[in-house]
Amino acid sequence: MTVAPDVLAVRRLVRWFDREGPDLPWRRTRDRWAVLVSEVMLQATPVARVIPYYESWLTRWPRAADLAASSVGDAVAAWQGLGYPRRARNLHAAATVIAQSGWPDASRYQDLPGVGAYTADALRCFADEQPVLPEDVNVRRVVARRFPAGWPGAPRGRGWHAGQAMMDLGREFCRARAPRCDDGCPLRPGCPAADAGVVHEVTPVTRRQARYEGSMRQRRGFLLKALAEDGRVRVSSDPEAADSLVAEGLADRRGSLLVPAGSA
Ligand code: ADE
Repeated sequence: MTVAPDVLAVRRLVRWFDREGPDLPWRRTRDRWAVLVSEVMLQATPVARVIPYYESWLTRWPRAADLAASSVGDAVAAWQGLGYPRRARNLHAAATVIAQSGWPDASRYQDLPGVGAYTADALRCFADEQPVLPEDVNVRRVVARRFPAGWPGAPRGRGWHAGQAMMDLGREFCRARAPRCDDGCPLRPGCPAADAGVVHEVTPVTRRQARYEGSMRQRRGFLLKALAEDGRVRVSSDPEAADSLVAEGLADRRGSLLVPAGSA
């Protein structure tokens, strides 16, 4: 029986991962809480920056119930420096649900606050080792370029490895603007986009991140940093940014002061 070329390509990818895949801390566990924490952190933050946050987060809150017993403000303060702090609030909300009701069935991970299609698939693949491919922006780009007929699936029992490998490939070789096709990409042989010279043309369009300098994100970041350091900030220092943090549950207002969310 002949094996389809794309199936062979995935086998090659998994072999490459076995040889060269980096030993990242979230790859040593199948614990759902640890995988959820890592995937939420990795959603908008590079791997190298996530590692120390991931380790200290799980040292402090090794189980969902541990985070649920802390305040939202503690979670937001521990997130300081990772960006997009709504993710910390969502993790706290998810931890609260898990502590109260247990984990939902794997088919209902999306019922957890802040868990979308990608994160639900990442839990199924990286914690439960189900044969699904979690498609974030990077993986979607690799699929569009290398597997335009669709993801062929992983060898039996190797879905976890194939998923992790696709993450690494998207980061190291199949990069958005500067792909390194001829620099040792394990999926280069038989790549339709590279063969046809249309790597950029077939890349899915993504929204460019808005400028940070002078943005509301930056102003909110200033307030959250001061809050993490001093435990309180005057609302009058930036009333608009303060209002927006309160509206999102990332901080509370007490009189003329902004204080950590959920602080007694
Ligand atoms: N980005 C998202 N998930 C990842 C993972 N498990 N490993 C490396 N990078 C990732």
